[in-house]
Amino acid sequence: MVDFVSHLICRQSAIEQKRLAEIGRANKQRDLAEKLSGAGIPPRGKGASVASVGENYREAVLGYCQSLKNRLERGAGVFMFGGKGTGKTTAAYAILNYAAAGGYSVAYTTALGLINAYKAAGYEGHDGFIKKAAEPDFMVIDELDKAHGSPHDIVILGEIIDVRYRQQKPIISCVNKAFNVVEQMIGEYAFDRITGDGVMLLEFNGDSYR
Ligand SMILES: Nc1ncnc2c1ncn2[C@@H]1O[C@H](COP(=O)(O)OP(=O)(O)OP(=O)(O)O)[C@@H](O)[C@H]1O
Ligand SMILES: [Mg+2]
Repeated sequence: MVDFVSHLICRQSAIEQKRLAEIGRANKQRDLAEKLSGAGIPPRGKGASVASVGENYREAVLGYCQSLKNRLERGAGVFMFGGKGTGKTTAAYAILNYAAAGGYSVAYTTALGLINAYKAAGYEGHDGFIKKAAEPDFMVIDELDKAHGSPHDIVILGEIIDVRYRQQKPIISCVNKAFNVVEQMIGEYAFDRITGDGVMLLEFNGDSYR
């Protein structure tokens, strides 16, 4: 009898532990979903608009913003490249703010931030994380050329790029380094997806604003 009762108690506590683990997993997923939602635009980017974009690039950025519906239908993003402090991230913020004001869902992350958030999700969170990363209509992956991580981390970054590509969800990315260096870093398939198929290539030159 005592054995039977203790067996029941053990079973009960195993069920409770399983339930708590499930709640923990659900909370983790929710936190990640929040990180990947529009709330991800940092304070520095909140006030950016097309008027904040350097005049040499303003027309191109405005053109992109005025055709968001079409860009989304084609999954066509923006690839911004050029020297430090030339205004790429500001232009990326401006696009996200314009899109958010138009009712589109947006997300801002750096490549490293994306990798770290993926690691926090853990192996069991893989599918949910990839699904969440494909949800926002427009996603900025800033500092794409600073995606340090293990070969597996870079594969995951490539997977996110590929899933968004297949879902026709535009990626707006910014880099400082030369094309061949970025290609080597993230892999030729990811690079091809992030720069091809109607993506607007925008070079930023001139002096740093910093
Ligand atoms: N058109 C502009 N006029 C004045 N200041 C600007 C303009 N565009 C950007 N800035 C300011 O210049 C600084 C650098 O801009 P930003 O971070 O957008 O450059 P970046 O190209 O992303 O630099 P990095 O390559 O180092 O990431 C920021 O403080 C930003 O507010
Ligand atoms: Mg930047």
